[in-house]
Amino acid sequence: MKAYVIKAGSTSFDGLVQVEKPKPVAGPGEILVEMRAASLNFRDILVPLGRYFGGPIPADLIPLSDGAGEVVAIGAGVTRFKIGDRVCGTFFRNYVDGLPAAVDRPALGSPVDGVLAEFVVFNQQDAVLAPANLTFIEAATLPCAGVTAWHALMVAGRPVRPGDTVLVLGTGGVSLQALQLAKAAGARVLVTSSDDKKLERARALGASGLINYKSHPDWHTEVMRLTNGHGADCVVEVGGAGTLKNSMLSLAYAGKIAMIGVLSGFVGDTNPHTVMLKGGNMHGIFVGNRAMFENMNKAIEVNDIHPIVDQIFTFSQTAAAFQHLQGQSHFGKIVVTIG
Ligand SMILES: NC(=O)c1ccc[n+]([C@@H]2O[C@H](COP(=O)([O-])OP(=O)(O)OC[C@H]3O[C@@H](n4cnc5c(N)ncnc54)[C@H](OP(=O)(O)O)[C@@H]3O)[C@@H](O)[C@H]2O)c1
Repeated sequence: MKAYVIKAGSTSFDGLVQVEKPKPVAGPGEILVEMRAASLNFRDILVPLGRYFGGPIPADLIPLSDGAGEVVAIGAGVTRFKIGDRVCGTFFRNYVDGLPAAVDRPALGSPVDGVLAEFVVFNQQDAVLAPANLTFIEAATLPCAGVTAWHALMVAGRPVRPGDTVLVLGTGGVSLQALQLAKAAGARVLVTSSDDKKLERARALGASGLINYKSHPDWHTEVMRLTNGHGADCVVEVGGAGTLKNSMLSLAYAGKIAMIGVLSGFVGDTNPHTVMLKGGNMHGIFVGNRAMFENMNKAIEVNDIHPIVDQIFTFSQTAAAFQHLQGQSHFGKIVVTIG
C-alpha cells in the first residue's frame, strides 16, 4: 500500500516521503480501515521540522492523527463495528473515557504511526462512527481539532450554554470548529483574526463580534466594548503566552479560559492576577477522549454542522498541504484525500 513517512531525525519537510508498505492485517479486536481522507493540524508541521515534543523523531513515522475511512475487514471478537462502517480513529490510543492519566495513551502521528496511508488498523476501542451527515473529507477534520474544541466548550469547567459569549482566537482549525459548535449551543461568538476578509467569512458562519488583532493589539478592549463590559464567558485560547494576557483581560466574571495552543509562541505576560480578580478559571486541554468524540458527533448530526474545509489536496500533493498549513493563510481545515 501507499503511505507517507517522516524519516527518522527529520528537521525539514524534505523528511516527508511517500513509500510502499505492506498492507496491515486486522488482528483480534481490531478493524482494518481503508482511509479516504486525512487532515492536518498545527502539530503536524512541527513533527517533520523536529520541533514537536522531544525533538526530531527517533524512527520513521506515518504522520497525521486525523482521518476517516471505511471498515473493510474486522478481526475476531470485534463487536463495535462491521464491514462498511464509516469511521474515524481517535487521537489517542487507549483513551475511552475519564480523566487524562499517566498511562500509555500515545497519540497518532507522534509518537505512534498516524493515518496518512491507504490502510490503517485500529483497535476497535480507538475508533468512532463518523457523523452520518458528513463526507469522509469533513469527518477527517474531527479527531484532534473537533474534539479539542468540544472539550474546551462543553467538558472543561461549566459547559457553554445559550446566551453565553465565546471568544475564539484566529480562524484556524480548532477555532472555527469551536465557532460552529458554540453557535449550535446558542452562544454568541466573537472572533479575532489578522485578516478582515477572514473576519467576514467568520461572520457568514454566525460570528457576531469581529476583531482584527493586528489593528487592535489591545483587542480585549474590543471584546469588552462589543459585550457592553461583560466579557467572554469562555475563551478558546489557541495563542498561548503571547495572547494570554489579553485573553485574561477579555474574561467575564466566573468565565473560563481553555488553554489549548501555542500559536503566538512561548513568551508573554502570563501573570494570572486578572483571573483571580474575576473569579475565573483556566483549564488545560489536551484533545480529549473517545466519549467526548462520540458526544460531539451527536451534536454535529443533530445540528447538521459541516466543518469548514479550506483546501483539499490529493495524496501526491501532501507536501504542498504541509506548506499551505505552514503559510497560515488558511481558513479552517486542510485535508488530503487518500485512494
Ligand atoms: N492542546 C491541544 O489538545 C491542542 C489540540 C489542537 C491544537 N492545539 C494547538 O492549538 C493551536 C491551534 O491549532 P490549529 O490546528 O487550529 O492551528 P491552525 O489551523 O494552524 O491555526 C492557524 C491560525 O491561527 C491564527 N493565529 C496565529 N497566530 C495567532 C495569534 N498570535 N493570535 C491569534 N490567532 C493567531 C491565525 O488566524 P488568522 O489568520 O485568522 O489570524 C492562523 O491562520 C496550535 O498551537 C496547536 O498546536 C492544541
